[in-house]
Amino acid sequence: MKIKEIKVNEKESKYSIIIGDKSIQLISSKIKKVCPDTKKICLVVDRNIPSKFRNILVKQLKKYDLHVVVLNPNEKLKSFQNVSKLSEKLLSLNFNRSDLIISFGGGVIGDFSGFVASILKRGINFINIPSTLLAQVDAAVGGKTGVNSKFGKNLLGSFYLPKIVIIDVSLIKSLSRRELITGYAEILKHAIIFSKKFYNWLEKNSNKLLIEKNNNYLQYAIHKSCKIKLFFVGGDFKEKNKRMNLNFGHTFAHAIESTNNYSSRIKHGEAVLIGMVMATKLSKMVKITSDKTLQNILNLYKKYNLNYDLKKYFKKNKYNKIISFMSSDKKNKDQKINFVLLKRIGKTAKPGNFNYSVKFIKKNFLSLI
Ligand SMILES: NC(=O)c1ccc[n+]([C@@H]2O[C@H](COP(=O)([O-])OP(=O)(O)OC[C@H]3O[C@@H](n4cnc5c(N)ncnc54)[C@H](O)[C@@H]3O)[C@@H](O)[C@H]2O)c1
Repeated sequence: MKIKEIKVNEKESKYSIIIGDKSIQLISSKIKKVCPDTKKICLVVDRNIPSKFRNILVKQLKKYDLHVVVLNPNEKLKSFQNVSKLSEKLLSLNFNRSDLIISFGGGVIGDFSGFVASILKRGINFINIPSTLLAQVDAAVGGKTGVNSKFGKNLLGSFYLPKIVIIDVSLIKSLSRRELITGYAEILKHAIIFSKKFYNWLEKNSNKLLIEKNNNYLQYAIHKSCKIKLFFVGGDFKEKNKRMNLNFGHTFAHAIESTNNYSSRIKHGEAVLIGMVMATKLSKMVKITSDKTLQNILNLYKKYNLNYDLKKYFKKNKYNKIISFMSSDKKNKDQKINFVLLKRIGKTAKPGNFNYSVKFIKKNFLSLI
């Protein structure tokens, strides 16, 4: 398989995302290029990645003064206390700005170690090797890092760009179906909001991703998906409305996850799958999209056994709690709930203009699920 490369040109820095099979084997040659002065490396590893991959990296990095930190990735890891612990360990080892932190894990490890890299001596080199599909198409793209606070998720963080992102599609083989679905939901979202052509491809080929975990198809889908996310997060940071498109389905999804106290009973991607159908039903209700669009999406869900049934997760008496979480979303305006709606597959309605009252959502909630 030929390696694909996306060159990202941000004002702050330029970096590449490379995508391929066994691409982690390129790590040492890439470091020489993008961090030529690095002497010490801290490799932060997700303990659930099969050890053969970690061994490949350790072997590749043997010429460096290498410190391997193996961590258990759960949301509790993303705390200020743990940031302080790792930072102090690296300070005690005399890590300098020219040295390097490599994240090798899913979004939890990436957010956590990226944040440490961004504050250590005001920013040391960072390389991200995302190991879950969600991290490969979402968390490792766009430069957001961060940890949680007792006031909420991801409230302490920074924008910090890596020197390179290395996506190895062979890491996906060991992911469970639920973890795969979590990443797939974001891939599907990227297609729905931006590309009918990519959506049609997914409609035809999703079994190659979800069942066969075929490397060539994974590479294609990850590459497309990263490019779409980069389109929405790139350019002017102040262009908030453009970035907001990525929130399609997420107003519902975040409220569902909050109502569920972020327990693993509902994963983020599962909530996004539910949220995208609800947002499409709302789009139809307010006459922004057609029934044909909704049926098209529902058919794809049916074909690939994707669950969007809120009733499977919550009793009716929890619906008001979901709405109440939606009404406290930080993206709201004038006490109305803000939604990203869909015009047709591949095109959202201009975000920022669709705000509905709690009363309206309460009245129509049952028609949205
Ligand atoms: N920075 C961003 O822009 C951004 C965007 C989306 C999500 N996030 C964050 O990402 C996190 C979720 O990321 P995630 O879904 O990757 O979860 P995760 O990091 O918890 O990983 C999910 C599970 O998969 C396991 N795993 C990782 N790689 C594996 C592999 N190759 N084989 C087998 N198992 C493997 C992990 O150990 C974990 O149990 C959340 O904290 C979320 O806030 C950040």
